[in-house]
Amino acid sequence: MACFSGYSDSFSRVCWGEMGVMWSEKYRPKRLEEMVGNEDARAMIFDWLLNWKRGMKPLLLVGPPGVGKTTMAYAAAGQLGYSVVELNASDQRTKGELSKSFTSVLSTSLLEENRLLLLDEVDGLYGRADFGGLEYLAEHLEDLPVPAILCANDPESDQVKKLSKRARLVRIKTVPSRLAELYLRLVLEKEGVTLSDENIARIVTSAAGDMRAVLNTAQSFVPTGTLTTLYSKNPNYSLAEAINEACRAGTAEDALRYLQACDADQDEKVMGCYNTIVSASSLQPAVRLRALRGVAGAALLIRRIKSTQQWRLLRYLDRMLADAMHGLGIPYAGDPLPFTAKVRIWNDSKSIKAFCNQLARETNISSREFTAKHLSPTLLIISRSEGGLETWCALHNLDQPVLNALQRELKSIIASIGK
Ligand SMILES: Nc1ncnc2c1ncn2[C@@H]1O[C@H](COP(=O)(O)OP(=O)(O)OP(=O)(O)O)[C@@H](O)[C@H]1O
Ligand SMILES: [Mg+2]
Repeated sequence: MACFSGYSDSFSRVCWGEMGVMWSEKYRPKRLEEMVGNEDARAMIFDWLLNWKRGMKPLLLVGPPGVGKTTMAYAAAGQLGYSVVELNASDQRTKGELSKSFTSVLSTSLLEENRLLLLDEVDGLYGRADFGGLEYLAEHLEDLPVPAILCANDPESDQVKKLSKRARLVRIKTVPSRLAELYLRLVLEKEGVTLSDENIARIVTSAAGDMRAVLNTAQSFVPTGTLTTLYSKNPNYSLAEAINEACRAGTAEDALRYLQACDADQDEKVMGCYNTIVSASSLQPAVRLRALRGVAGAALLIRRIKSTQQWRLLRYLDRMLADAMHGLGIPYAGDPLPFTAKVRIWNDSKSIKAFCNQLARETNISSREFTAKHLSPTLLIISRSEGGLETWCALHNLDQPVLNALQRELKSIIASIGK
Protein backbone atom coordinates (compact mmCIF):
# COMPACT_ATOMS: atom_id res chain seq x y z
CA MET A 1 0.00 0.00 0.00
CA ALA A 2 1.42 3.33 -1.15
CA CYS A 3 0.97 5.21 2.08
CA PHE A 4 3.31 2.87 3.87
CA SER A 5 6.27 3.32 1.53
CA GLY A 6 9.39 4.22 3.49
CA TYR A 7 7.77 2.85 6.62
CA SER A 8 10.47 0.37 7.53
CA ASP A 9 13.14 3.04 7.07
CA SER A 10 11.79 5.28 9.71
CA PHE A 11 10.82 2.40 11.94
CA SER A 12 14.42 1.37 12.03
CA ARG A 13 15.26 4.77 13.44
CA VAL A 14 13.11 4.37 16.53
CA CYS A 15 14.41 2.78 19.64
CA TRP A 16 13.14 -0.80 19.61
CA GLY A 17 14.54 -2.07 22.82
CA GLU A 18 13.30 0.79 24.91
CA MET A 19 10.53 -0.24 27.26
CA GLY A 20 8.10 2.27 28.60
CA VAL A 21 7.90 4.36 25.46
CA MET A 22 4.40 5.09 24.37
CA TRP A 23 3.56 3.57 21.05
CA SER A 24 1.97 6.80 19.91
CA GLU A 25 5.40 8.44 20.18
CA LYS A 26 7.44 5.46 19.11
CA TYR A 27 5.38 5.09 15.93
CA ARG A 28 4.97 8.73 15.08
CA PRO A 29 5.47 8.69 11.29
CA LYS A 30 8.55 10.53 10.08
CA ARG A 31 7.33 10.90 6.52
CA LEU A 32 3.99 12.07 5.16
CA GLU A 33 3.54 8.92 3.11
CA GLU A 34 3.80 6.76 6.22
CA MET A 35 0.65 8.33 7.60
CA VAL A 36 -2.88 7.11 7.04
CA GLY A 37 -5.90 9.17 6.00
CA ASN A 38 -6.07 12.80 4.84
CA GLU A 39 -4.24 12.04 1.61
CA ASP A 40 -5.20 15.33 -0.09
CA ALA A 41 -4.21 17.42 2.90
CA ARG A 42 -0.84 15.68 3.15
CA ALA A 43 -0.13 16.23 -0.53
CA MET A 44 -1.17 19.85 -0.22
CA ILE A 45 1.10 20.47 2.78
CA PHE A 46 4.03 18.93 0.96
CA ASP A 47 3.47 21.08 -2.15
CA TRP A 48 2.96 24.20 -0.08
CA LEU A 49 6.28 23.78 1.70
CA LEU A 50 8.10 22.68 -1.45
CA ASN A 51 6.97 25.82 -3.27
CA TRP A 52 7.03 28.16 -0.31
CA LYS A 53 8.01 31.76 -1.04
CA ARG A 54 7.90 34.76 1.19
CA GLY A 55 4.46 36.39 1.09
CA MET A 56 2.56 33.08 1.00
CA LYS A 57 0.02 32.62 3.75
CA PRO A 58 0.87 30.22 6.57
CA LEU A 59 -1.15 27.02 6.91
CA LEU A 60 -3.70 26.54 9.66
CA LEU A 61 -4.33 22.82 10.20
CA VAL A 62 -7.61 22.34 11.99
CA GLY A 63 -8.90 18.99 13.12
CA PRO A 64 -9.71 16.81 16.12
CA PRO A 65 -7.02 15.47 18.47
CA GLY A 66 -4.74 12.65 17.43
CA VAL A 67 -5.29 12.76 13.68
CA GLY A 68 -1.76 13.80 12.79
CA LYS A 69 -1.61 17.60 12.55
CA THR A 70 1.63 18.00 14.49
CA THR A 71 3.04 14.90 12.85
CA MET A 72 2.31 16.30 9.37
CA ALA A 73 4.13 19.52 10.14
CA TYR A 74 7.22 17.69 11.41
CA ALA A 75 7.15 15.13 8.60
CA ALA A 76 6.89 17.72 5.82
CA ALA A 77 9.67 19.75 7.42
CA GLY A 78 11.92 16.72 7.83
CA GLN A 79 11.42 15.60 4.25
CA LEU A 80 12.13 19.02 2.76
CA GLY A 81 15.16 19.84 4.88
CA TYR A 82 13.56 22.27 7.31
CA SER A 83 14.14 22.23 11.02
CA VAL A 84 11.11 22.97 13.12
CA VAL A 85 10.97 25.76 15.65
CA GLU A 86 7.95 25.03 17.75
CA LEU A 87 6.11 27.61 19.79
CA ASN A 88 3.34 26.14 21.84
CA ALA A 89 0.39 28.40 22.49
CA SER A 90 0.22 27.12 26.03
CA ASP A 91 3.74 28.35 26.75
CA GLN A 92 3.71 31.57 24.76
CA ARG A 93 0.35 32.84 25.72
CA THR A 94 0.93 36.53 26.26
CA LYS A 95 1.81 39.17 23.76
CA GLY A 96 5.11 39.78 25.52
CA GLU A 97 6.13 36.13 25.51
CA LEU A 98 5.13 35.65 21.90
CA SER A 99 6.91 38.72 20.67
CA LYS A 100 10.07 37.63 22.50
CA SER A 101 9.95 34.20 20.88
CA PHE A 102 9.10 35.63 17.49
CA THR A 103 11.99 38.02 17.61
CA SER A 104 14.43 35.27 18.44
CA VAL A 105 12.99 32.80 15.92
CA LEU A 106 12.94 35.32 13.15
CA SER A 107 16.31 36.84 13.84
CA THR A 108 18.62 37.04 10.87
CA SER A 109 21.04 34.39 12.05
CA LEU A 110 18.25 31.84 12.17
CA LEU A 111 17.00 32.83 8.76
CA GLU A 112 20.18 31.55 7.25
CA GLU A 113 19.06 28.05 8.02
CA ASN A 114 15.83 26.54 6.75
CA ARG A 115 13.34 27.00 9.54
CA LEU A 116 9.70 26.11 9.73
CA LEU A 117 7.76 27.82 12.45
CA LEU A 118 5.19 25.56 14.12
CA LEU A 119 2.60 27.25 16.28
CA ASP A 120 0.90 24.29 17.86
CA GLU A 121 -2.42 24.25 19.67
CA VAL A 122 -3.31 27.84 19.01
CA ASP A 123 -6.76 27.21 20.44
CA GLY A 124 -5.42 25.13 23.31
CA LEU A 125 -6.23 27.57 26.03
CA TYR A 126 -9.51 29.14 25.07
CA GLY A 127 -10.85 31.22 27.90
CA ARG A 128 -7.47 32.13 29.33
CA ALA A 129 -6.11 35.63 29.31
CA ASP A 130 -4.16 35.05 26.13
CA PHE A 131 -5.90 37.48 23.83
CA GLY A 132 -2.96 39.78 23.68
CA GLY A 133 -0.99 36.86 22.29
CA LEU A 134 -3.68 35.96 19.78
CA GLU A 135 -3.90 39.47 18.44
CA TYR A 136 -0.13 39.72 18.22
CA LEU A 137 -0.05 36.45 16.31
CA ALA A 138 -2.76 37.49 13.85
CA GLU A 139 -0.96 40.74 13.12
CA HIS A 140 2.38 39.08 12.54
CA LEU A 141 1.26 36.20 10.36
CA GLU A 142 1.39 38.22 7.21
CA ASP A 143 4.71 38.43 5.51
CA LEU A 144 6.59 36.07 7.80
CA PRO A 145 10.12 35.48 6.55
CA VAL A 146 9.80 31.73 7.21
CA PRO A 147 7.06 29.21 6.42
CA ALA A 148 4.69 28.72 9.34
CA ILE A 149 2.16 26.04 10.22
CA LEU A 150 -0.48 26.63 12.88
CA CYS A 151 -2.48 23.81 14.45
CA ALA A 152 -5.80 23.89 16.24
CA ASN A 153 -8.63 21.56 17.17
CA ASP A 154 -11.78 23.57 17.22
CA PRO A 155 -12.93 25.11 13.92
CA GLU A 156 -15.52 27.15 15.80
CA SER A 157 -13.10 28.68 18.29
CA ASP A 158 -12.51 32.41 18.27
CA GLN A 159 -8.83 31.77 17.69
CA VAL A 160 -9.41 29.76 14.52
CA LYS A 161 -11.97 32.22 13.22
CA LYS A 162 -9.59 35.08 13.75
CA LEU A 163 -6.46 33.38 12.45
CA SER A 164 -8.13 31.82 9.41
CA LYS A 165 -8.42 35.27 7.86
CA ARG A 166 -4.63 35.45 7.76
CA ALA A 167 -3.83 31.82 7.05
CA ARG A 168 -4.81 29.06 4.60
CA LEU A 169 -7.17 26.75 6.43
CA VAL A 170 -6.66 23.02 5.93
CA ARG A 171 -9.21 20.66 7.46
CA ILE A 172 -7.70 17.49 8.88
CA LYS A 173 -10.29 14.77 9.32
CA THR A 174 -10.49 11.70 11.50
CA VAL A 175 -8.77 8.63 10.09
CA PRO A 176 -11.19 6.08 8.56
CA SER A 177 -11.51 2.88 10.64
CA ARG A 178 -10.22 0.69 7.84
CA LEU A 179 -6.93 2.62 7.67
CA ALA A 180 -6.64 2.97 11.44
CA GLU A 181 -6.95 -0.80 11.74
CA LEU A 182 -4.34 -1.36 9.07
CA TYR A 183 -1.89 0.91 10.84
CA LEU A 184 -2.59 -0.70 14.19
CA ARG A 185 -2.02 -4.19 12.80
CA LEU A 186 1.32 -3.07 11.41
CA VAL A 187 2.36 -1.69 14.81
CA LEU A 188 1.23 -4.88 16.56
CA GLU A 189 3.28 -6.89 14.11
CA LYS A 190 6.35 -4.76 14.76
CA GLU A 191 5.83 -5.14 18.50
CA GLY A 192 5.30 -8.88 18.17
CA VAL A 193 1.99 -8.57 19.95
CA THR A 194 -1.21 -10.41 19.12
CA LEU A 195 -4.64 -9.02 19.86
CA SER A 196 -7.91 -10.72 18.98
CA ASP A 197 -9.86 -9.39 15.99
CA GLU A 198 -12.61 -8.51 18.40
CA ASN A 199 -10.30 -6.36 20.54
CA ILE A 200 -8.81 -4.67 17.51
CA ALA A 201 -12.27 -3.81 16.24
CA ARG A 202 -13.23 -2.49 19.68
CA ILE A 203 -10.11 -0.32 19.94
CA VAL A 204 -10.56 1.15 16.49
CA THR A 205 -14.26 1.81 16.94
CA SER A 206 -13.90 3.49 20.31
CA ALA A 207 -11.01 5.67 19.10
CA ALA A 208 -13.30 7.11 16.41
CA GLY A 209 -10.50 8.10 14.04
CA ASP A 210 -8.08 9.38 16.69
CA MET A 211 -4.82 7.55 15.95
CA ARG A 212 -3.23 8.50 19.24
CA ALA A 213 -6.13 6.86 21.03
CA VAL A 214 -5.85 3.79 18.79
CA LEU A 215 -2.20 3.26 19.71
CA ASN A 216 -2.46 4.18 23.39
CA THR A 217 -5.49 1.97 23.95
CA ALA A 218 -3.89 -0.92 22.12
CA GLN A 219 -0.77 -0.55 24.25
CA SER A 220 -2.82 -0.64 27.42
CA PHE A 221 -4.08 -4.07 26.34
CA VAL A 222 -0.56 -5.45 26.39
CA PRO A 223 0.22 -7.08 29.74
CA THR A 224 3.93 -6.26 29.69
CA GLY A 225 3.80 -3.45 32.16
CA THR A 226 5.03 -0.91 29.64
CA LEU A 227 2.59 1.72 30.82
CA THR A 228 3.50 1.11 34.43
CA THR A 229 7.16 1.46 33.52
CA LEU A 230 6.38 4.72 31.84
CA TYR A 231 4.64 6.26 34.79
CA SER A 232 6.86 4.83 37.50
CA LYS A 233 9.83 6.78 36.17
CA ASN A 234 8.89 9.53 38.63
CA PRO A 235 8.54 9.06 42.34
CA ASN A 236 5.03 9.70 43.58
CA TYR A 237 4.49 12.68 45.81
CA SER A 238 1.48 13.25 48.01
CA LEU A 239 -0.47 16.41 47.33
CA ALA A 240 1.05 18.10 50.38
CA GLU A 241 4.62 17.14 49.38
CA ALA A 242 4.13 18.20 45.78
CA ILE A 243 2.68 21.60 46.68
CA ASN A 244 5.31 22.20 49.37
CA GLU A 245 8.10 21.43 46.92
CA ALA A 246 6.47 23.42 44.13
CA CYS A 247 6.27 26.48 46.39
CA ARG A 248 9.93 26.00 47.31
CA ALA A 249 11.07 25.55 43.70
CA GLY A 250 13.05 28.37 42.18
CA THR A 251 11.68 27.90 38.67
CA ALA A 252 8.36 26.89 37.16
CA GLU A 253 10.12 23.98 35.46
CA ASP A 254 11.24 22.57 38.82
CA ALA A 255 7.80 23.12 40.32
CA LEU A 256 6.29 21.32 37.36
CA ARG A 257 8.32 18.19 38.02
CA TYR A 258 6.89 17.89 41.53
CA LEU A 259 3.33 18.56 40.47
CA GLN A 260 3.59 16.07 37.63
CA ALA A 261 4.88 13.44 40.03
CA CYS A 262 1.74 13.76 42.13
CA ASP A 263 -1.23 11.84 40.85
CA ALA A 264 -3.87 13.55 42.96
CA ASP A 265 -7.13 14.24 41.20
CA GLN A 266 -7.07 17.47 39.15
CA ASP A 267 -9.73 19.19 41.29
CA GLU A 268 -7.82 18.31 44.45
CA LYS A 269 -4.64 19.81 43.01
CA VAL A 270 -6.34 23.05 42.16
CA MET A 271 -8.10 23.24 45.54
CA GLY A 272 -4.83 22.36 47.32
CA CYS A 273 -3.01 25.21 45.58
CA TYR A 274 -5.90 27.57 46.21
CA ASN A 275 -6.15 26.72 49.89
CA THR A 276 -2.39 27.05 50.27
CA ILE A 277 -2.40 30.53 48.77
CA VAL A 278 -5.37 31.86 50.71
CA SER A 279 -4.13 30.43 54.01
CA ALA A 280 -0.65 31.94 53.82
CA SER A 281 -0.40 35.09 55.87
CA SER A 282 3.06 36.05 54.64
CA LEU A 283 2.25 36.72 50.97
CA GLN A 284 2.32 40.24 49.59
CA PRO A 285 -1.09 41.16 48.12
CA ALA A 286 0.29 41.49 44.60
CA VAL A 287 2.01 38.11 44.82
CA ARG A 288 -1.12 36.50 46.24
CA LEU A 289 -3.21 38.02 43.47
CA ARG A 290 -0.86 36.78 40.75
CA ALA A 291 -0.85 33.30 42.21
CA LEU A 292 -4.63 33.25 42.61
CA ARG A 293 -5.05 34.35 39.02
CA GLY A 294 -2.90 31.43 37.90
CA VAL A 295 -4.93 28.98 39.96
CA ALA A 296 -8.18 30.51 38.71
CA GLY A 297 -6.90 29.91 35.17
CA ALA A 298 -6.30 26.27 36.06
CA ALA A 299 -9.82 25.97 37.50
CA LEU A 300 -11.28 27.43 34.31
CA LEU A 301 -9.25 24.98 32.30
CA ILE A 302 -10.77 22.08 34.25
CA ARG A 303 -14.24 23.45 33.56
CA ARG A 304 -13.46 23.66 29.90
CA ILE A 305 -12.07 20.15 29.84
CA LYS A 306 -15.16 18.81 31.57
CA SER A 307 -17.57 20.61 29.31
CA THR A 308 -15.77 19.78 26.06
CA GLN A 309 -14.31 16.42 27.09
CA GLN A 310 -10.95 17.53 25.71
CA TRP A 311 -8.99 15.55 28.25
CA ARG A 312 -5.73 16.12 26.41
CA LEU A 313 -5.80 19.70 27.74
CA LEU A 314 -5.18 18.25 31.19
CA ARG A 315 -1.48 18.21 30.42
CA TYR A 316 -1.49 22.01 30.76
CA LEU A 317 -2.95 21.92 34.23
CA ASP A 318 0.25 21.12 36.11
CA ARG A 319 2.10 23.71 34.07
CA MET A 320 -0.40 26.41 34.98
CA LEU A 321 -0.22 25.46 38.63
CA ALA A 322 3.58 25.38 38.49
CA ASP A 323 3.59 28.88 37.01
CA ALA A 324 1.35 30.05 39.82
CA MET A 325 3.05 28.30 42.76
CA HIS A 326 6.79 28.30 42.14
CA GLY A 327 8.80 30.53 44.41
CA LEU A 328 5.94 31.39 46.77
CA GLY A 329 7.88 29.85 49.65
CA ILE A 330 4.73 29.05 51.64
CA PRO A 331 3.73 25.78 53.26
CA TYR A 332 0.93 23.57 51.99
CA ALA A 333 -2.41 24.17 53.69
CA GLY A 334 -5.44 21.94 53.44
CA ASP A 335 -9.04 23.03 53.46
CA PRO A 336 -9.18 26.23 55.53
CA LEU A 337 -12.90 25.83 56.07
CA PRO A 338 -13.76 24.25 59.40
CA PHE A 339 -16.95 22.25 59.48
CA THR A 340 -18.79 24.83 61.59
CA ALA A 341 -18.09 27.48 59.00
CA LYS A 342 -19.37 25.21 56.28
CA VAL A 343 -22.59 24.53 58.15
CA ARG A 344 -23.15 28.23 58.54
CA ILE A 345 -22.52 28.76 54.86
CA TRP A 346 -25.02 26.08 53.94
CA ASN A 347 -27.56 27.81 56.14
CA ASP A 348 -26.68 31.08 54.53
CA SER A 349 -28.78 34.17 54.72
CA LYS A 350 -30.30 36.03 51.80
CA SER A 351 -27.57 38.65 51.98
CA ILE A 352 -24.76 36.18 51.78
CA LYS A 353 -26.49 34.51 48.89
CA ALA A 354 -26.58 37.83 47.04
CA PHE A 355 -22.84 38.20 47.60
CA CYS A 356 -22.13 34.65 46.47
CA ASN A 357 -24.33 34.93 43.39
CA GLN A 358 -22.55 38.07 42.32
CA LEU A 359 -19.07 36.63 42.75
CA ALA A 360 -20.06 33.32 41.22
CA ARG A 361 -21.22 35.18 38.12
CA GLU A 362 -18.01 37.19 37.96
CA THR A 363 -15.80 34.15 38.37
CA ASN A 364 -17.88 32.00 36.08
CA ILE A 365 -18.64 29.20 38.53
CA SER A 366 -21.91 28.01 39.98
CA SER A 367 -23.13 29.94 43.01
CA ARG A 368 -23.52 26.66 44.84
CA GLU A 369 -19.84 25.85 44.32
CA PHE A 370 -18.83 29.37 45.23
CA THR A 371 -20.83 29.21 48.46
CA ALA A 372 -19.45 25.83 49.41
CA LYS A 373 -15.82 26.37 48.55
CA HIS A 374 -14.87 29.97 48.06
CA LEU A 375 -16.94 32.17 50.33
CA SER A 376 -14.72 32.13 53.41
CA PRO A 377 -11.36 32.54 51.70
CA THR A 378 -12.79 35.25 49.47
CA LEU A 379 -14.15 37.15 52.44
CA LEU A 380 -10.81 36.84 54.16
CA ILE A 381 -8.95 38.14 51.14
CA ILE A 382 -11.32 41.04 50.58
CA SER A 383 -11.24 41.99 54.24
CA ARG A 384 -7.44 42.14 54.13
CA SER A 385 -7.27 44.13 50.92
CA GLU A 386 -7.19 47.91 50.80
CA GLY A 387 -10.50 49.43 51.89
CA GLY A 388 -11.70 46.08 53.19
CA LEU A 389 -15.21 44.72 52.85
CA GLU A 390 -16.84 48.10 53.11
CA THR A 391 -15.19 49.54 50.01
CA TRP A 392 -15.67 46.31 48.12
CA CYS A 393 -19.43 46.26 48.84
CA ALA A 394 -19.76 49.90 47.86
CA LEU A 395 -17.96 49.26 44.58
CA HIS A 396 -20.20 46.28 43.87
CA ASN A 397 -23.45 48.04 44.74
CA LEU A 398 -24.15 45.76 47.68
CA ASP A 399 -26.16 47.56 50.34
CA GLN A 400 -25.72 47.91 54.09
CA PRO A 401 -27.66 44.77 55.14
CA VAL A 402 -25.39 42.70 52.89
CA LEU A 403 -22.31 44.36 54.34
CA ASN A 404 -23.54 43.71 57.87
CA ALA A 405 -24.21 40.06 57.13
CA LEU A 406 -20.81 39.68 55.51
CA GLN A 407 -19.08 41.30 58.46
CA ARG A 408 -20.84 38.91 60.84
CA GLU A 409 -19.90 36.01 58.63
CA LEU A 410 -16.30 37.15 58.49
CA LYS A 411 -16.14 37.51 62.26
CA SER A 412 -17.29 33.98 62.81
CA ILE A 413 -14.93 32.63 60.16
CA ILE A 414 -12.00 34.37 61.83
CA ALA A 415 -13.08 33.12 65.23
CA SER A 416 -13.52 29.57 64.04
CA ILE A 417 -10.12 29.36 62.35
CA GLY A 418 -8.44 31.08 65.27
CA LYS A 419 -6.80 33.91 63.32
N1 LIG B 1 -2.64 9.97 10.26
C1 LIG B 1 -1.85 9.28 11.09
N2 LIG B 1 -1.22 8.18 10.67
C2 LIG B 1 -0.47 7.46 11.54
N3 LIG B 1 -0.30 7.76 12.83
C3 LIG B 1 -0.91 8.83 13.29
C4 LIG B 1 -1.70 9.66 12.45
N4 LIG B 1 -2.18 10.66 13.16
C5 LIG B 1 -1.72 10.51 14.41
N5 LIG B 1 -0.95 9.42 14.49
C6 LIG B 1 -0.36 8.90 15.71
O1 LIG B 1 -0.90 9.66 16.79
C7 LIG B 1 0.12 10.41 17.45
C8 LIG B 1 -0.38 11.79 17.73
O2 LIG B 1 -0.48 12.50 16.52
P1 LIG B 1 -0.34 14.07 16.46
O3 LIG B 1 0.41 14.54 17.65
O4 LIG B 1 0.20 14.44 15.13
O5 LIG B 1 -1.86 14.48 16.57
P2 LIG B 1 -2.50 15.93 16.50
O6 LIG B 1 -3.51 15.91 15.40
O7 LIG B 1 -1.43 16.94 16.41
O8 LIG B 1 -3.26 15.96 17.91
P3 LIG B 1 -3.52 17.16 18.91
O9 LIG B 1 -4.66 17.94 18.31
O10 LIG B 1 -3.92 16.48 20.17
O11 LIG B 1 -2.27 17.95 19.03
C9 LIG B 1 1.32 10.34 16.53
O12 LIG B 1 2.52 10.32 17.28
C10 LIG B 1 1.13 9.06 15.79
O13 LIG B 1 1.64 7.98 16.55
MG1 LIG C 1 -0.74 18.36 17.87
